[in-house]
Amino acid sequence: MSLVQNGAVETRREPEGVLAVLQDETMLDRLNGVIHEQRLGDDVVVEATLDAALRRIREGLAPRLLFLDLSGAAAPIAEVSAARTVGGRDMKLVALGNVNDVTHFRDLLSAGANDYLLKPPSREALAVVLEKPAQTANENGDGGLGHVVVFIGSRGGIGATTTAVSCAWLLAEEQHLPTALVDLDLHFGTVALTLDTDPGGGLCEALEQPSRIDGIFIDAAMVKMTEHLRVLAAEASPAEPVAVDPGAIDMLLYELRRKFRWIVVDLPRGAVPAQRAVLAAATHAVLVCERSLAGLRDTIRLQTLLREQAPQSSLFLVEAGTASERALVSRSEFEKGTGKAFQASLSYDPKSAGAAANAGQPLPQVASRSPVLRELRQLVSALAGPAEAKPKSRLFALRSLW
Ligand SMILES: Nc1ncnc2c1ncn2[C@@H]1O[C@H](COP(=O)(O)OP(=O)(O)OP(=O)(O)O)[C@@H](O)[C@H]1O
Ligand SMILES: [Mg+2]
Repeated sequence: MSLVQNGAVETRREPEGVLAVLQDETMLDRLNGVIHEQRLGDDVVVEATLDAALRRIREGLAPRLLFLDLSGAAAPIAEVSAARTVGGRDMKLVALGNVNDVTHFRDLLSAGANDYLLKPPSREALAVVLEKPAQTANENGDGGLGHVVVFIGSRGGIGATTTAVSCAWLLAEEQHLPTALVDLDLHFGTVALTLDTDPGGGLCEALEQPSRIDGIFIDAAMVKMTEHLRVLAAEASPAEPVAVDPGAIDMLLYELRRKFRWIVVDLPRGAVPAQRAVLAAATHAVLVCERSLAGLRDTIRLQTLLREQAPQSSLFLVEAGTASERALVSRSEFEKGTGKAFQASLSYDPKSAGAAANAGQPLPQVASRSPVLRELRQLVSALAGPAEAKPKSRLFALRSLW
């Protein structure tokens, strides 16, 4: 962004990095340790006094976060207030101190601090305050919560997972929107396999014990695919049933919606215990349809299910790209039966699908010349809407959080 001031063009920098006013080396080591562990990539600038730190800001440093150690400060409230005035609204301000008193905490918040940590802070507490808004920001007019789009195949093996993974990839990589891809087929899901990644652990356990679910758990349980795409999946043993607590799904989706702009859920067909809770949270539902008689019957039955359990969601019908000998119903007959036109029709492209499977990559990455990529993009822009079709600037994303 450029500002014209006194006739000169001045460039305002995006907030980045951490400025720390620290009293001891231990604290600096811990801070650097967490930044390294969480792969945040922040540079840390350290000053011994608040005056020196504020001078750095006045000279043009624009940290995304200011750590302010108040132990020994004669006037902590005034210090926080001065830091807020000089740092501006976009800077996150985290105070540290030795005073364990709720009134003191409240005073600091009203003076402009975003958070207050008791010394010495745990690594977990530091990880939470250091979390990057660019990975978590969303602003979509829904109380700041992300969208939940549920993908269901009207029949088995018709490309529902392929479509879900492709859409998540396009949302993350082409629209640069923080996206979580969640595979709720805990035993036989193929999302992680499709992306050639280890599903990681923890999801099943957490879905059985909702008390485990919080921001820290989610960070640990998710696999980072790219800067904007995280995957949450499991590979539970077929011999072990997972007693999913619907309350856990509710909590999980809420936490994910706070952190990601889009949550793409690959939902197995059939009445899995999680289904009702997922549908209740869905903002969008994509039914991948096989144009067969059985496919028409099941699409209609799933439409009824969605009307009952996800009346708040927008429904999209997508014609599957997988070839089927059972594809007997004409397109117009199918659309008449469902009372709804296809939002997109995916081409049959076994070459690209095979190449994607062999490379362990999402279809859009290997199918750059295939019509299927254009069709998937069309679906994604129908989902995300024209307003989100362009990447937002990071500055905008940062502003939306604080
Ligand atoms: N457009 C396409 N053209 C050709 N083959 C495709 C296409 N899309 C997906 N496939 C292939 O179809 C097979 C099934 O795909 P996928 O696993 O996505 O289906 P699914 O509906 O999720 O299956 P399940 O019911 O087992 O979960 C895979 O081998 C995939 O590579
Ligand atoms: Mg599947």
